[in-house]
Amino acid sequence: MNTAPRLGIKELRQSAIDVLKLNDLGSMTSAAPNLYPHMWSWDAAFVAIGLARYDVPRAITELRTLLAAQWSTGMIPHIVFSDNAAGYFPGFDRWGTASAAARPGAVKSSGICQPPVHAIALRHIVDRGRENGGRDQEVAEAFLVESFDGWLAWHRWLAEVRDPDGMGLIEIHHGWESGFDNSPRWDGPYSRIEPGPVEPFTRRDTLHVADASERPDDAEYTKYLWLVQQMASVDFDDRAIQEIIDFRVRDVFFSGIMAASSDVLADLGDEIGRPDDAAQLRSYARRFRNGVASSVDPETGLARDYDVLAGEWISTQTVSGFASLIAGGDPAALAVQQNLLQGPEWMGYPQMRFPLPPSTSPASAAFRARTYWRGPVWPFLNLLLGWAAKRDGEQELFETLKTASLHQLADLKFGEYYEPFTGDPLGSLNQAWTAAAALEWIGTD
Ligand code: SER
Repeated sequence: MNTAPRLGIKELRQSAIDVLKLNDLGSMTSAAPNLYPHMWSWDAAFVAIGLARYDVPRAITELRTLLAAQWSTGMIPHIVFSDNAAGYFPGFDRWGTASAAARPGAVKSSGICQPPVHAIALRHIVDRGRENGGRDQEVAEAFLVESFDGWLAWHRWLAEVRDPDGMGLIEIHHGWESGFDNSPRWDGPYSRIEPGPVEPFTRRDTLHVADASERPDDAEYTKYLWLVQQMASVDFDDRAIQEIIDFRVRDVFFSGIMAASSDVLADLGDEIGRPDDAAQLRSYARRFRNGVASSVDPETGLARDYDVLAGEWISTQTVSGFASLIAGGDPAALAVQQNLLQGPEWMGYPQMRFPLPPSTSPASAAFRARTYWRGPVWPFLNLLLGWAAKRDGEQELFETLKTASLHQLADLKFGEYYEPFTGDPLGSLNQAWTAAAALEWIGTD
């Protein structure tokens, strides 16, 4: 019996657009209708990629809203709070960013960041604008000129503040900054945190999923809030945070994205006559590509994070190990990772419903099929890996990811993440960046 889902591309495209409209709050798109009723930084970038497939001006609005939340330091915060949505925890008040000197007063935001995928989104907007021509091209090119300095300041802040020693690896101060909240990557660093007293709290995230075990547990959450409290105690001052925070990790996947995105922003800079800035961005790209390469474990072939406080590399079998594929670089090194990714411990694991990378390898003891970053497949990540494969001329890997993703998303549920063996959608349904990924896959040749 053929169990492959019926694939109606037209229907998928329309459903994905409907999901983005459902989440549209006017000038921002909520990451998901109930679980995440605000704007998240890297979600917004992927959302903009999807929006650009059918509405270039609306895609621009998304990035413009995010950029309006940029701190005076250059940091782009990981959550921009919508004024009209209550019900998310921790909300603006709990973040304690009200008195942070660098936060623009008019925009409520969190005080940490997420990976810098934004220049990649900007590239997509400019490309779609040029393909469409006319007014779309005009507004896209104008937005590139208008926003370039903001993105440049963001990359500079990351390079100077989060990699002050020029290691080519970005330091993060909370698992949430990685976007991989409860990945086994962070088990070691979190295991060493002994939280002080944390204000009482009631979680809301567990109310919006079918089963609370799909989310991080309460002990993990207490540590997440402890770190927020530590940052708030120094008013989110960059220098002070580094001195007092209990979580200091050099995040290799974040760094891979920094490398890729800096190259993209450099190209955009060249296109608008900013050669000096483009040269600086290319030097960032080289630095972070080298940083990622230096982290690769010669035995496993996977890139590794580095725990600064423990003074050790973190070896886990998580999809972040493929940071080199995002960063790009030496073709021989990339070939090793491409084979590994498509091999029996990852996309080729025998029971996989679709040949897509699980967030943690099923061959690892840390694997949990239904728990957030401990095993499930994340559609937006597959899009990012596909984008990088195409950039590097790896058409076969790109096609495999595209075909499998379109089959996965044909359930029209737009899950936040998916159970790798059954293909069940998990977390929130109607997740905006999942819908955006569907639109982009459909649109890319
Ligand atoms: N992803 C985290 C959450 O649960 C933090 O941004 O909301």
